Amino acid sequence: MRIVRTTDYKDMSRKAANVISAQVIMKPDCVLGLATGTTPLGAYSQLVEWCDKGDVDFSNVSTYNLDEYRGLTNDDPQSYHYFMRQNLFDKVNIDLARTHVPDGSNPDAEAACSEYDRMVREAGYPDLQLLGIGNNGHIGFNEPDSCFSKGTHCVNLTESTIKANSRLFEREEDVPRQAYTMGVQTIMYARMILVIASGEAKADAVYRMCYGPVDPDCPASILQLHTNCVVIADEAALSRC
Ligand code: GLP
Repeated sequence: MRIVRTTDYKDMSRKAANVISAQVIMKPDCVLGLATGTTPLGAYSQLVEWCDKGDVDFSNVSTYNLDEYRGLTNDDPQSYHYFMRQNLFDKVNIDLARTHVPDGSNPDAEAACSEYDRMVREAGYPDLQLLGIGNNGHIGFNEPDSCFSKGTHCVNLTESTIKANSRLFEREEDVPRQAYTMGVQTIMYARMILVIASGEAKADAVYRMCYGPVDPDCPASILQLHTNCVVIADEAALSRC
């Protein structure tokens, strides 16, 4: 695991965008694993700017997002489908048919998850997987547990995640209680992993990810075992390291 310390959020975002665009430049038909949350917003807007200038070309890129809330339609403004279109897909020259997010509108969890696993597997897994990290060490929506998860599955969100994510909803009751998420094993199949983190609230989780025991109680800690994982985090997120 390599750790890159940045001065602040802006610096983290630009460096992350540099890594993503280098991947796209070196392999124009690459598979990107993408993440939602507020952390990647700066990197996404940097990529939009570079795409506008012709510096990075997404026309042959395929993407697979980590997760989606269960029970939201794709056009629900709180869905991760909507988030990705608003913040990246509708603003760069990507072919929407090549973008994928788990289907939260399918109430059949078993079918939605196995179909998503099949697609990610057939795509050959991501060349580069972008990850944020939850305050409790979750990646995607893989919450602290007694074992590491495998493929895409339906999860019950923890109270702390519901609380943390409620800032993006009008009321805490509106936050869906379940989500479909790629499993930890699937995440580990990516050929390169880029974790980004910013702010004091992430300091504990980042410390446990980088230096804690590899334990499913902190799902991100398994990334210590990945052979090509880079953490780009700002001073505040690395303040315990
Ligand atoms: C959500 C997402 C994660 C994300 C995490 C942190 O729960 N499922 O993929 O990493 O929140 O979000 P933020 O970047 O807003 O702190």
